[in-house]
Amino acid sequence: MPTPTSDSVNRRKFLQFLAASPLFAYAGAGGVALASRSRAWSAENLAPPGALLPSAADAFNVFDLEAVARTKIPVAHLAYLDTGVEGDVTVRANREGFAKIQLRPRRLVDTTRLDTSVKLFDTTWPTPIIIAPVASHCAFHDDGELAVARAARARNHLQCLSTWCTTSVEDVTSARGAPVWFQLYATTQWEITRALVQRAEAAGCPVVALTIDNPTNIGRETLERGKRRDPRDCTECHSPRAGGIFKRKSMFEGLDVSGLVGPLTPHLTWDFVKRLQDTTKMKVVLKGIVTAEDATLALQHQVAGIVVSNHGGRGEESGRSTIESLPEVVAAVGGKIPVLVDGGFRRGTDIFKALALGANAVCVGRPYIWGLGAYGQPGVERCLEILTVELEVAMRHMGTPTLASITRSSVQRA
Ligand code: GLV
Repeated sequence: MPTPTSDSVNRRKFLQFLAASPLFAYAGAGGVALASRSRAWSAENLAPPGALLPSAADAFNVFDLEAVARTKIPVAHLAYLDTGVEGDVTVRANREGFAKIQLRPRRLVDTTRLDTSVKLFDTTWPTPIIIAPVASHCAFHDDGELAVARAARARNHLQCLSTWCTTSVEDVTSARGAPVWFQLYATTQWEITRALVQRAEAAGCPVVALTIDNPTNIGRETLERGKRRDPRDCTECHSPRAGGIFKRKSMFEGLDVSGLVGPLTPHLTWDFVKRLQDTTKMKVVLKGIVTAEDATLALQHQVAGIVVSNHGGRGEESGRSTIESLPEVVAAVGGKIPVLVDGGFRRGTDIFKALALGANAVCVGRPYIWGLGAYGQPGVERCLEILTVELEVAMRHMGTPTLASITRSSVQRA
């Protein structure tokens, strides 16, 4: 019999903990009961619980941060983070898409020095890993968007702020110490939308990323189930009164939201894109393109860039991953404008695959929120550090010392 190592003792403790843990009842995207079905145990999600991870530095990977975050974030807020729509098929597809692509490592290339820098419009970033817009950071940790901005500053990542943020664009920009990009929900009223855009521009945002993949958020079943499980009185923040959904949404402060149904926009068309371009000097990027047809239209409408996105699997239930949508968009764009991508990125190898398929950069959402919920700013920094190191490791294995040397020949379909 082998002597138990500290790893195996920890693992046993962890399994004992799990048996008694609410994690068993509620874990994984979709809030599916682990004991019954779905999220199979794998090295990725067999992460140790918070008790065994006293600090962010103890996390090996972003799934460790997730495990800790699940012990700290209220169940309804976790459900908001987890949710896709209907059966959450597209949330899972985003992850599963990466397994359909394999790496083709090249040997005997000097990768002692790596250069992961990327130029997006007028700015060169040291890393292609971008902090994606996620709503309401204060739902996950009291320090909210400010903690994320400070982490972005500490590690010098581009941050894109959600319209639906709890902390204003001015305060986030100041904490970041540099301009952030602004993600726009175009709302149902042009005057309000214009005010949001003008405010972001005045705060120094160089880019507005218009969300076009979320005309309705009906069908978020995982969210609705999570809300029912949360015993807290949520009316203080989620007031049932008219306009109550805008409470604590700092970008709407001072605006008359009485006629606004919400931020969502089933009425958007290409005319709106033109109107937005005519209204602002910020570069207009479209977030939510997933087909060659729409990428071609985006070029015809002179948009500045594209984010290949299905809203983290919470827009439409397409069942199609963004990593599988990326190649047709890249082909249609033909290098004329930057193409970014988000959706299910959890490992450096995932990021590498997107770069190989032609993305200029990759936006990461849920993982840094796990870091935030688990440990505040140090957790966000640890998330960014983990993904950075994993990407660098992948680049070394693949014999690609620069982003430009990562090409389509680095990957193949499984
Ligand atoms: C916000 O963007 C959301 O998907 O809830």
